[in-house]
Amino acid sequence: MADLLSTLSLRETEIPNRIAVSPMCQYSCEPDGLATDWHQVHLGSRAVGGAGIVMTEATAVEPRGRITPSDLGIWSDEHAAALEPITEFIRDQGSVPGIQLAHAGHKASKSAAVGG
Ligand SMILES: Cc1cc2nc3c(=O)[nH]c(=O)nc-3n(C[C@H](O)[C@H](O)[C@H](O)COP(=O)(O)O)c2cc1C
Repeated sequence: MADLLSTLSLRETEIPNRIAVSPMCQYSCEPDGLATDWHQVHLGSRAVGGAGIVMTEATAVEPRGRITPSDLGIWSDEHAAALEPITEFIRDQGSVPGIQLAHAGHKASKSAAVGG
């Protein structure tokens, strides 16, 4: 059995251990889908904690594909640029950033979460 803390090679990517942070919707964007300081801290702190892979929440490929208006998106260069410092920080911690590309299909475009 593979040791939890052993490295894992996936093609050219070397992952320092087998701990992966699951995608977790944060409902923390303004309705523009851009990553915020919240995402920097939420994802960055998991990398500081030593997870081998840190995944973004479900990140919509078009505005209407978001589950709620506060979800992350990556439908423009501006969206990619907002994520870049976060992925850079994750890499600086020795972790591997990942993104969950998403489209919520017929469950998309629900109301914003209350109290989130
Ligand atoms: C707050 C929260 C947000 C989540 N958001 C997503 C998401 O964006 N995409 C997804 O595929 N799963 C999402 N999930 C499910 C988790 O990624 C994960 O599959 C689930 O917590 C079960 O993990 P486990 O099998 O390690 O217990 C979310 C879970 C939680 C608790």
